[in-house]
Amino acid sequence: MIDKIKEHIAEVEQFTADSPEAVEAFRVKYLSKKGLMGKFASELRNVPNEQKREFGQTVNKLKTVATEKVAALKASLENASEEKGIYDDLTRPGEPIELGARHPISIVKNQITEIFSRIGFNVSEGPEIEDDWHNFTALNLPEYHPARDMQDTFFIQTNPDILLRTHTSSVQVRYMENNKPPIRTISPGRVYRNEAISARSHCFFHQVEGLYIDKNVSFADLKQTLQFFTTELFGKSKIRLRPSYFPFTEPSAEVDVYWGLETETDYRMTKGTGWLEIMGCGMVDPNVLTNCGIDPEAYSGFAFGMGIDRIALLLHQISDIRLLSENDVRFLEQFRSAL
Ligand code: DAH
Repeated sequence: MIDKIKEHIAEVEQFTADSPEAVEAFRVKYLSKKGLMGKFASELRNVPNEQKREFGQTVNKLKTVATEKVAALKASLENASEEKGIYDDLTRPGEPIELGARHPISIVKNQITEIFSRIGFNVSEGPEIEDDWHNFTALNLPEYHPARDMQDTFFIQTNPDILLRTHTSSVQVRYMENNKPPIRTISPGRVYRNEAISARSHCFFHQVEGLYIDKNVSFADLKQTLQFFTTELFGKSKIRLRPSYFPFTEPSAEVDVYWGLETETDYRMTKGTGWLEIMGCGMVDPNVLTNCGIDPEAYSGFAFGMGIDRIALLLHQISDIRLLSENDVRFLEQFRSAL
């Protein structure tokens, strides 16, 4: 008897069908109460006790194999008929292809690097996990320098020499260490600061650093470059430079762009002044050049740094910086860009 069931199992494994009717007939034959399952169930009484266990197991195996066979045959017949339907009907409308949207940070970053690429700046990148030298010391910010307090830093607990970079100025150090002037480079990237998260600030954000080193580079070159940039990005050519302080530049300035006071929004954004602060800049301090292996007697240069997130908020009238990192599709899909 058990051998007979094993033969059935082999049959089931071999079976194929090309119509739903054939599958149904197969199911009735093997799995229905009137079919083999019913027959074996009533047969159980006559099986000698010592064989009952093996008999039961073999019948169960047959049931499993047959059930799986029915499911597999049904699925493959359905697939086949679906595909036939698709390819038979040439008037069927195509499936729409969903296009993703670029993130506003990427859009603004690409706009900025594209503008500077037109006047000869290349793009350079550096690590987000930095050492003290590249983030601070080489930038004229030695240990215990009070200006370190301007940037609340995440240090790695087990090694105070390692930190999450607080600005992309670290990339200018790396670039100068590895390249000889003339240097014209733009370094976009993510930076980290230990700040409370709110609508206006976050513990990580994005910056673009710019660096230009050559013979006879002057403050006038810096001003012209920045004015070209604001005209291209914002369509605003009126800028002003306010004296400021950064340890890595001397002299240093804060750059404001004249946004205007035409609309209600302009008033709100500029707090009624018409001016918006957009970046810091200055002439690279000779100490920084020396630290990076460049002779300050032969070369001079300028640097600037700006926050991409703030500019994205400005350009797209986004009211809360947290939206930029929450990955809400309803927010993200509103952005379309060729860049
Ligand atoms: N690193 C500065 C910051 O994070 C921004 C900056 C200011 C960069 C002036 C510069 C610069 O290169 O010259 O606040």
